[in-house]
Amino acid sequence: MDDYELIDSGNGRKLERFGSFILDRPCAQAVWSPSRLSEWDCADASFSRKDGLKWQGRDNLPSSWKVTIHGVRMKLATTNFGHLGVFPETRTIWDQIRNSIKLANEKHSNPIHFLNLFAYSGGATLAAAQGGAHCCHVDASKGMVQWARENAELNDLNQHPIRWIVDDVNKFLQREQRRGNQYDAILLDPPSFGRGKKGELYKIEQTLIETLSLVEAVLSENPVFVYLTSHTPGFTPIVLNNLLRKYFSTGAIKSGEMLLTVAEKVLPVPSGAWARWQPE
Ligand SMILES: C[S@@+](CC[C@H](N)C(=O)[O-])C[C@H]1O[C@@H](n2cnc3c(N)ncnc32)[C@H](O)[C@@H]1O
Repeated sequence: MDDYELIDSGNGRKLERFGSFILDRPCAQAVWSPSRLSEWDCADASFSRKDGLKWQGRDNLPSSWKVTIHGVRMKLATTNFGHLGVFPETRTIWDQIRNSIKLANEKHSNPIHFLNLFAYSGGATLAAAQGGAHCCHVDASKGMVQWARENAELNDLNQHPIRWIVDDVNKFLQREQRRGNQYDAILLDPPSFGRGKKGELYKIEQTLIETLSLVEAVLSENPVFVYLTSHTPGFTPIVLNNLLRKYFSTGAIKSGEMLLTVAEKVLPVPSGAWARWQPE
């Protein structure tokens, strides 16, 4: 059984199991009432954004613990922002990335080169590596890149060809374009608002356009896919689809909502959007 489970959602919250621990966290889009009321008392810890950012019951949790989610082993830890080091709604995208790369590797004579931008704790990087890709993992946060490297070790992938880059995404892409470095498969998960390594401001509404034009510039002549995901309100599947279409006039684009699902009879929770371009 997978170590992640959505147990229930409602009243602006979600109840999830990560390994042996059950967490109750905010979820603005869960505007319905909960379905499994009796389960909520089982939470080991809860996080709230009312009156500042606050964990309750954090002492019930270890400082870190390990889980396996869709084939990727990960270290989890509670952060002061209520994050844990994984966004489980992306886990079906890891599966698709792993499978597409495996298939493409069977057809190509050279290994597929996968680029993960805003790569966080590395779930997608490690899934791509499991599919046989040579990977490049880029994030502006030194701490997150270190966390992703620990995850690589947990998956016995520390000897796998993965470049670990701490940098601002647009600066990195400009450099790769100048050097003529190219990638066959690219994932980008831009934040609504972020900071590059030297404090460069990232505002999705203004900065993503440049990122996408640089992504197009570093895409190889035999591309496998470009995946764009977002958690920003208003960046719906059609918005992501339209953005990709501006840069990729031929080929097929699919898009949809990222969902937290799992337990039977539990409502799915929409958690952002994805769009994928493929050459045909
Ligand atoms: C939305 S999270 C990515 C989530 C991750 N892709 C996942 O689904 O698990 C945003 C990440 O982008 C990084 N980031 C924010 N601004 C950045 C920038 N300008 N350049 C590089 N990374 C940035 C943050 O450090 C953070 O790890």
